[in-house]
Amino acid sequence: MSYVTIDQVTKGYDNQVVLNNISLTLKKGEFATLLGQSGCGKSTLLRSIAGLEDVDVGSILIDGIDITNLSPRQREVGMVFQSYALFPNMNVYDNIAYGLKMKKVKDINARVKKMIEMVDLIGKEASYPHQLSGGQQQRVALARALVMEPKVLLLDEPLSALDAKIRKNLQKELKRIQKELDITTIFVTHDQEEAMTMSDRIFVMNKGIVVQSGSPSEIYTTPVNTFVAKFIGNYNVCSIEVFHKLVRNSELKGKEVAIRPEVLQLVSTDEDTSDLQDNWRIEGFIKDVSMTGNVLRYEVETVESAFHVDYLHHRGKMFEQGAHVQIIVPKNECIIL
Ligand SMILES: Nc1ncnc2c1ncn2[C@@H]1O[C@H](COP(=O)(O)OP(=O)(O)OP(=O)(O)O)[C@@H](O)[C@H]1O
Ligand SMILES: [Mg+2]
Repeated sequence: MSYVTIDQVTKGYDNQVVLNNISLTLKKGEFATLLGQSGCGKSTLLRSIAGLEDVDVGSILIDGIDITNLSPRQREVGMVFQSYALFPNMNVYDNIAYGLKMKKVKDINARVKKMIEMVDLIGKEASYPHQLSGGQQQRVALARALVMEPKVLLLDEPLSALDAKIRKNLQKELKRIQKELDITTIFVTHDQEEAMTMSDRIFVMNKGIVVQSGSPSEIYTTPVNTFVAKFIGNYNVCSIEVFHKLVRNSELKGKEVAIRPEVLQLVSTDEDTSDLQDNWRIEGFIKDVSMTGNVLRYEVETVESAFHVDYLHHRGKMFEQGAHVQIIVPKNECIIL
């Protein structure tokens, strides 16, 4: 039984369709991520769920209730934005307590204190937003949303304004809090790595359409089309014609071949590769070597197209620029699109 249902939702601005017949479902407690390039409609979908935008067609259900025409307040969702949007003239405690005071609920003090503890802001209760770091301000924004005990938590790029280290730290914290409260969460990002680490399920969006959904591992290892292959895993993608020329007598059929850079292996042209059966070999030259921390990325030029090959950066043999190499391509790692 799904907890959140988006059913054939379409929305446009002027003559532009921004959400094109989107349907998706979430289970209770799931951490789902909308992932896609700038302008693909992520925020519009999130804002439509929150009730900050009206949809043109379709319906949205939470916990069995059709909320499509309810006001934002009636929907019982909490939202956190990239800009923290705290009340500047209120301290941390009052920022978090504000919604509860408006609702005139009981136990305000106990609930606010519990949240302050949960987001690790004990000792900062009397501080004002301008006295806090970006990461701390975002913790307040999160606490302010969670204290209302929403049915669904909506997060629109909440970590994008933070520097890399604080961002990694808050990713972990957010995940811990989400699991602890078992709160159904929809997170928006255009960062593939962030989506992979955070999510139970990813919805990849392109131009107002959900092009693929699945667990991070499913999306990464079995992209359904060229867009997902290129967007998610930095796959090498080449046409079947080109691939046939490179490997000669390939039996592959389809339109394109996608291969992850980390499944490829490089060997010198003079190396004995007779033990590497079940592989294709492509000859080429090392055009470039770059390093992204723990990963060495080779760009290998072949007669037809360039391939990226990724290695974990161990001590030991490295190929120099210009080296003549063979790319070893495991047959069972080639994805036909
Ligand atoms: N209020 C608006 N009026 C007109 N067009 C809009 C409005 N809001 C969004 N759009 C358009 O809708 C499209 C989707 O916007 P949206 O903000 O949902 O993208 P996004 O995926 O969140 O992008 P980003 O990653 O840059 O935040 C864009 O082309 C945008 O210009
Ligand atoms: Mg956006």
